[in-house]
Amino acid sequence: MPVEIALPPAVKTILLTGAGGFVGRELVQLLLTRFPDVSLIATDVGVPPNYGVEDENRLKCVAANLCDKKEVEQLFSGRRVQAVFALHGIMSGQSEADFELGYNVNVFSHMNVLSVLAKHAESREEGEPLPVHVNVSSLAVYGGRKATPNSRVVPE
Ligand SMILES: NC(=O)c1ccc[n+]([C@@H]2O[C@H](COP(=O)([O-])OP(=O)(O)OC[C@H]3O[C@@H](n4cnc5c(N)ncnc54)[C@H](O)[C@@H]3O)[C@@H](O)[C@H]2O)c1
Repeated sequence: MPVEIALPPAVKTILLTGAGGFVGRELVQLLLTRFPDVSLIATDVGVPPNYGVEDENRLKCVAANLCDKKEVEQLFSGRRVQAVFALHGIMSGQSEADFELGYNVNVFSHMNVLSVLAKHAESREEGEPLPVHVNVSSLAVYGGRKATPNSRVVPE
């Protein structure tokens, strides 16, 4: 089944966190294929794969610990970013085994990204819409019989 995906027209540069992870690796490749004119910044704790793309205007791969706000700020430095796909995190088993790590990454590093993005948005050009922030969650959040997430999302 073809994957349906659309981006708001104002989105020219996307920051993907967790780009070396299970979902992040798939999404980077999907965006590279579907949106040849969109610039991607892919980040993870280690430098994520670049899939042979050497042009940093097309795909820039950067290592960053998002628990460190200065490292988050660095990701936005010198670039206009119109969308963030926040895919980083410590998944269930590991975050339960190390609650402090899980809390730091799954809560505070996301706060870092959101607050730096909000600050970044203040300097957007006149008429430019607010940036998009996509947070990926899982069925575990919905729970029970009411777990009926949409099978597709096309942003307005
Ligand atoms: N895998 C699935 O089937 C699935 C299903 C539904 C939802 N999701 C959601 O998608 C998101 C990504 O899941 P995934 O399976 O790709 O997870 P993953 O564990 O494969 O990837 C998470 C990435 O986050 C990175 N990371 C951890 N701490 C970091 C830090 N301090 N700074 C920067 N990066 C850090 C890790 O290095 C890792 O590459 C999660 O929110 C998850 O809940 C996943």
